[in-house]
Amino acid sequence: MNKSVHKILLSVVLLFVSTSAFPLPAEDAPAVNEIQAAIASAHPLATAAGIEILKQGGNAFDAAIAVTATLAVVEPYSSGIGGGGFYLLHEQGKNRDIMIDAREQAPGRADRDMYLDKDGNVIPGLSMDGALSAAIPGIPAALVHLAENYGALTLSQSLASAIKHAREGFAVDEYYQRMAGFRLVALQKNQAASDLFLQKGEVPELGYKIIQNDLADTLERIAEFGFSGFYENELAWKMVRDVRHNNGIWTIKDLATYELKERSPQRFIYKGMRLTTAALPSSGGLVIAEILQILGEYDLEKMSKSQRIHHIVEAMRRAYRDRAEYMGDPDFVDVPIDFLVSELHVKLLTKSINRRAATPSSSLKAVAQPDGNGTDTTHFSIVDKKGNRVSATLSINYPFGSCFVAKGTGVLLNDEMDDFSAKPGVPNAYGLVGSHANAIEPGKRMLSSMTPTMVETRNRIAVLGTPGGSRIITMVLLGILDFYDKKSADEIVNAGRYHHQYLPDEISYEAGRFDDDLVAELEELGHTVKQLGYEYGNMQVIIINKNTGEVDAASDERGVGSSQVITE
Ligand code: GLY
Repeated sequence: MNKSVHKILLSVVLLFVSTSAFPLPAEDAPAVNEIQAAIASAHPLATAAGIEILKQGGNAFDAAIAVTATLAVVEPYSSGIGGGGFYLLHEQGKNRDIMIDAREQAPGRADRDMYLDKDGNVIPGLSMDGALSAAIPGIPAALVHLAENYGALTLSQSLASAIKHAREGFAVDEYYQRMAGFRLVALQKNQAASDLFLQKGEVPELGYKIIQNDLADTLERIAEFGFSGFYENELAWKMVRDVRHNNGIWTIKDLATYELKERSPQRFIYKGMRLTTAALPSSGGLVIAEILQILGEYDLEKMSKSQRIHHIVEAMRRAYRDRAEYMGDPDFVDVPIDFLVSELHVKLLTKSINRRAATPSSSLKAVAQPDGNGTDTTHFSIVDKKGNRVSATLSINYPFGSCFVAKGTGVLLNDEMDDFSAKPGVPNAYGLVGSHANAIEPGKRMLSSMTPTMVETRNRIAVLGTPGGSRIITMVLLGILDFYDKKSADEIVNAGRYHHQYLPDEISYEAGRFDDDLVAELEELGHTVKQLGYEYGNMQVIIINKNTGEVDAASDERGVGSSQVITE
């Protein structure tokens, strides 16, 4: 990599929190010198690419580059170099944690009414399909930044597998078919996207090879020129030209001035466990901090199943309400973080919970609902033998993002603009509404739910996360509670899931995961309980045993991913 041409505009926001700032109890078990390395990701080819890098002498951060880029190639419906995400890093040697904020940001010409018609109504689909729905991507900057600041190998080495898969193609599976079927109409509207991701304009048959030569060229350009290989010069011009020909508003300046941000993660203690998780502009860490501080007031372990779920749901309801009212990009809005996790606020919320009855959301102080989130995204977890760790959740928002490929670049653009509130107070494409804190502004980052997380006890460390839109937060929460209950990685990823997000005022749960008696007991408490007709989430978990150095890794059976442990 040529560092002289590297031009990441790095903004260090709140940096490098030493883990000793949040000490565990004195009897904290000493870490062994070497641990097993492992990767869990949403696609076997991405897991294999990362394992290969670890075997070549790369560290967890090099492997994160390989996994990110390979997922961008083989899971185009979930993430990509036209998208963004959050990387939670733990540098074992320096004992510090960092969150890399590679979230997309609104173009300079964006304005809060850009998705409204002349009567002020939201135009359906405009923030979800096509070039106008795309924000400025952050993933290419993250790849370069990881290689230059944290990796041991060159960017070319770490990108090699992804480039190979892009050139040689990967085989369509049933999961791909489902995602392409879901977005078929939007994909058919863009010739470049249709040529790349469909077969003669239709959902490809099983085993059909998706070959992406332009994307391979683009990845090679990033490997050679770093930041400027994507954000400046020929590639930038090509993307801007095609975006503008198709009703988009990107400018060359938007790309050249994209800033990667390093932020201090959200950190707190729950019942002796140290949590390190996503900071704003992801709402995930703050919402989980609020929920767990409320739950810290209760002995969940001693409760009946319905009482336990009732209390967890009441905590979710209250924290999601605060998400709706207060949260947005901290570089644009003043989010009262300290207040939200203060003892006073948490005590007041806890006092308002009635153990005998659900609190109707309509009885809480009215605010707008959280803004909508995509149904697809991806997550991977990595641990290397030195104890470095990466928990990363990446997205292009809706499956296949905007369904718009910038001609001649292979870059499938995100539709992350839909994570803003197109019109505060009015439902967006998901039937959800948002607040002013998350209104569109030029250069602003849209509020996210992506929640890459690490949890540490005296004896164990978990690295976890999942896709799943606004349900990401409650999935990670349930994973943390299962980890507290000493469940294995396999049990955590495959546990049944339920969710409450303040509005709609209902508990939704995966089919077959609540029995009739449980539903009846929750209804008796006044909850509306809704069985979903589908499963959700795609969690990737690694658990380290600090005493032995052994790891336990698992990939969610709901997806097609894989986990692998290097044992030798
Ligand atoms: N696009 C999903 C999220 O950021 O939460």
